[in-house]
Amino acid sequence: MKIRQLAGALGAEVLGLDLTGEISDTEFASVRDALHQSGVICIRGQGAMTPEDQLAFAAKWGEISIHPYVPSIEGYPGIMKIYDPNPITQTWHSDSTHMREPHAYTLLLARVLPKVGGDTMFASATRAFESLSPEFQSMLRTLSAVHEGTSLAADAGLDHEAVVAVHPVVRVHSDTGAEALFVNDNYVSRFDGWTREESRPLLDFLYGVIGRYENTYRHRWCNGDLVIWDNRSTQHAVVGDVAGEERVLHRVTIASG
Ligand code: SIN
Repeated sequence: MKIRQLAGALGAEVLGLDLTGEISDTEFASVRDALHQSGVICIRGQGAMTPEDQLAFAAKWGEISIHPYVPSIEGYPGIMKIYDPNPITQTWHSDSTHMREPHAYTLLLARVLPKVGGDTMFASATRAFESLSPEFQSMLRTLSAVHEGTSLAADAGLDHEAVVAVHPVVRVHSDTGAEALFVNDNYVSRFDGWTREESRPLLDFLYGVIGRYENTYRHRWCNGDLVIWDNRSTQHAVVGDVAGEERVLHRVTIASG
């Protein structure tokens, strides 16, 4: 197995691993360490993985989470089908932050890819936080933000209270202890105790910092890529340039441990 860094801020690829069979504890520990170090990793060449293989590998990372309002694919609870880019997936976010216990990891397996386009952007929210001045960082540590489910939650008939959570603006990673900005434009409506209008300018500033080029890695998908990201330290957004071609990926998310 080989692990190779793909960009300065985040992103690594793993070569020489076959996830259709068992992998050793040592191999798994190396992959997990690489993910914690790089925020997002791509395990190449996993096109032969079945849904059962994907669920079995995902279970090694923790408890598989069933999405509260997006259905799983038939027969495989926990696997969600991701289609073409849409306004929600095209906006920088980490997954399901409206949940009281937001997800730790997401595993996304490429099934059908367009000839070109549909790359996924990743940003290091850790590096974004580290780039701020110490005084500003201290101020942010005192704030929390209100995260609310997207329009999909309302469409599914969920009670608003069931999809609202308040989280610190600076999230401390439960494995590495690193601090990261934990606000995103899909789910955050305002800072706790602030109005939406008061919150907007500071939120927009923080989103701009997260998305600075030097904090990002752009993943160009290849057939068989299994990409895993750490929702505690990164954000992602898909590029909406698919031009009507099919794009199907299978997603499994892991609850916070
Ligand atoms: C997602 O936001 O979970 C999907 C990202 C993608 O379609 O690449």
